[in-house]
Amino acid sequence: MPKKKKKIAVMTGGGDCPGLNAAIRAVVRTAVLDYDIEVIGILDGFEGLIENKTRHLRYDDVSNILNLGGTILGSSNKATLYGEKDLSNRALKNIKNWGIDGLICIGGDGTCSIAARFLKKWHKIICVPKTIDNDLKGTDQTIGFNTAAAFVTDAVDRLHSTAESHHRVMVLEVMGRYAGWLALEGGFAGGGDVILIPEIPFIFDKVVEAIQKRIKKGKKASIIVVAEGAKAVGEKFTVSSVVKDSPDPLRLGGIGKRVSDYIQDKIGIESRVTILGHLQRGGAPNFVDRMLATGFGVEALNLVLKGNFGKMVAIKGREITAVKISDAVKGLRLVNPDSTIVKTALSLGTSFGI
Ligand code: F6P
Repeated sequence: MPKKKKKIAVMTGGGDCPGLNAAIRAVVRTAVLDYDIEVIGILDGFEGLIENKTRHLRYDDVSNILNLGGTILGSSNKATLYGEKDLSNRALKNIKNWGIDGLICIGGDGTCSIAARFLKKWHKIICVPKTIDNDLKGTDQTIGFNTAAAFVTDAVDRLHSTAESHHRVMVLEVMGRYAGWLALEGGFAGGGDVILIPEIPFIFDKVVEAIQKRIKKGKKASIIVVAEGAKAVGEKFTVSSVVKDSPDPLRLGGIGKRVSDYIQDKIGIESRVTILGHLQRGGAPNFVDRMLATGFGVEALNLVLKGNFGKMVAIKGREITAVKISDAVKGLRLVNPDSTIVKTALSLGTSFGI
C-alpha cells in the first residue's frame, strides 16, 4: 500500500506583525519542496481551529509574500478556544478530521499560552514566537520586533526636526504592553532624551528636571519616548480601553498625554503628543525579520518532522534553537533595568525619569 502523504497545518494567532507571511512561506516552501508534505492554513487564528475554517497552502500560494505585512491567514486577538466556554474538544474533532500530523502556531504570549494548555489534549504542536512587544521568554527576539523598533526610531528622527523648529517637547507613545523593549531600543537608536518604560517606574518631577537641565544647556527641544505601559512610581498602568472578549482585556495607553500635560504645566514649554499606535504593526518586514521568520519557519517544520513536539523555536545569539512552550510562557521577558543598554543610555545622558 502506498504510504499516506503527510499533512500539517499552520496558523497565526494574536496581534499581527511584520514577518508572519515570511514564516508561513518558509514552512510551506520547505514542506512542499523538500518533503512533499501537504499544508493547510487555519484561518483567523484559533477561531479557524474551532470553526473549521481552512485553506490549502500550495507552493504558488506563498509566492510574493516574503515582503508582505500582516498575515495571509488572518488572525484574531479574541479568546476563542478557552473563552466563555472550553471549545477544545471541538478543535480536537476538527484536527482529527483534517488528519494532520502537526500544527505550527505562529503567535505571541497569548497564543503560546493557549497552545500550552491545548498540548495536554493534543501534543503535536510547535510554536513560532512573534510579537512587536518582544516579551516572550526563551528567545532573544520575536518576529516583528525589529521592524517595529526601526519604525519607532524613524518616528523619533522625524519628531526631532519638528521639535527643533518649534522649540517644543515632543512626546512619543509607543506600544509594547507590559514590556519596554520598543520604547527602549527604538528610543535609544533615535537618540530620545527621556525614555520611560514599565520596568523602571518614573517620577514626573524627575522628567521635568531632565527637560529643565536640557533647557539650561541651551537645548530648546526635547524628545520623550514613552512606552504605553510606563507608570509613575506607586501608580498602576494607564488603561485606554477594555476589550472584553480578549485573553488580556486591558489595552494600555494615555500615559504619553499625562507626561506631556505635566511638563507643559510645570515648565510652560509647549509640548505635543504623538501616539504611534498600529502603524507600528503594519507594513513590510525589514531584512532582520525576514531572516528571522524564515529561519524560524524552517526550524518549526524540522521539529514537526522529527516529532519533537511541545517546543517553541527560538533564537539565542545568532543560533536558532528551541525551548519548551511551557517554559516560554512562564511570565514575560522584561527589560532588566541593570542591562548594558540601559547603562549605556544613562551614560549618554538619557533620563529614565528617576
Ligand atoms: O501585543 C501587541 C500589541 O500591539 C501591543 O503592543 C498592544 O498593546 C496591543 O497589541 C494592541 O492590541 P489591539 O490590536 O487589540 O488593540
